[in-house]
Amino acid sequence: MADLTTTFTGLRFRNPFLLSSAPPTESESNILRAFEAGWGGVVTKTIGLHPVVNVAGPKTKFLRADADSPHISMKKRTATALHSSWNWELISDKTLDWWVPRLGRIKKAFPDHVLVASIMAGSGNDTELRHWQQLATACQEQGCDALELNLSCPHMDRPDMGSNVGKDKELVSIVTQVVKQVSKIPVWAKLTPSTTDIVVEARGAFLGGADAITSSNTFTSLPLIDAETLEFEINVDGFVSTGGLGGPAILPLSLAKMSQLTQAFPDKAFSGIGGISTFEHALSYFLLGCGTVQVCTAAMLDHAIGPNVIRELNAGLARFLDQNAGKGWKRIDDVVGLRRDRVVAQSRIRRPTEKDYHGGFEAEGYAPAEEKV
Ligand SMILES: Cc1cc2nc3c(=O)[nH]c(=O)nc-3n(C[C@H](O)[C@H](O)[C@H](O)COP(=O)(O)O)c2cc1C
Repeated sequence: MADLTTTFTGLRFRNPFLLSSAPPTESESNILRAFEAGWGGVVTKTIGLHPVVNVAGPKTKFLRADADSPHISMKKRTATALHSSWNWELISDKTLDWWVPRLGRIKKAFPDHVLVASIMAGSGNDTELRHWQQLATACQEQGCDALELNLSCPHMDRPDMGSNVGKDKELVSIVTQVVKQVSKIPVWAKLTPSTTDIVVEARGAFLGGADAITSSNTFTSLPLIDAETLEFEINVDGFVSTGGLGGPAILPLSLAKMSQLTQAFPDKAFSGIGGISTFEHALSYFLLGCGTVQVCTAAMLDHAIGPNVIRELNAGLARFLDQNAGKGWKRIDDVVGLRRDRVVAQSRIRRPTEKDYHGGFEAEGYAPAEEKV
């Protein structure tokens, strides 16, 4: 039997796979089902203190690509592959009072599974900073194992919340520090990928005392405009605002962010998210230096909490460890970061020899020349 366990920020996980903060973790029943299904941990849907009212219409849609044409669309049709999820859902619309007894019950029912509370408040003044502490204290009193600071939601109207905080290294640092002042449990900072150099904000989080960085939240994006109706494929009364892209389309984008982070801080802990639905996807994150990974879009499309996704992730990890037992790899920890240093500056990539290189004169373009009619 392969050993799927790992230790991350001092916490023991049955396996390194978590459901990320999103609809799969928005309720007690979902989280209980998720633990039953085999997820090693869950991060709750983000809990806040400010009132939350979502848009009057769908909050999430899925963009699909045709197999035999370049067409991509949110319209439901057959013979397509998932391209991405797009959402403009806000944080949990349930109050802290609603969450508190539920967190306690979940922890009692599954004491050996890791329950991470995702929290968010503002950052403009002392009252808002105290809100972070209030949220942190309430969640840890219920037995939550860690806190994840949502510094990354891309569609907050308030300039002092979500990715607006995550784009400001000082605010990232202050918020992390304020939470660390009251927390007895590990604090993970979930950063936004929508910045020029995520290493800058990560440094702010670590200076504030973060025990780990989580990345990525969704990427800022717009839905496509339908060529027939000239309406955005998701809109309310014809209007749209920017929302977040997740799923397969962001896997390579998020890996690039993660590579920057793990190279800058090789001794720190990272939880990878973005486009994961199979063990092979997760493995890329582990090899770059992540100790755990999280999943949202793939789980949303699999009975809401991803029972088949987690079965495949666990089976894939077990297969991988069995196949590589001869190399002495006993647990996922043995391969974490193994390919971190293979990402280098372009100038360090080998060039063809003089013999093989013809100054770019031999062939033009990528497609074969058009056939004459
Ligand atoms: C509908 C929806 C709601 C989300 N809500 C939250 C949230 O409340 N807090 C948070 O930190 N991330 C939230 N996320 C982001 C996800 O946790 C995750 O970072 C992102 O979707 C990328 O992972 P994926 O490619 O597996 O979907 C949400 C994502 C979606 C699709």
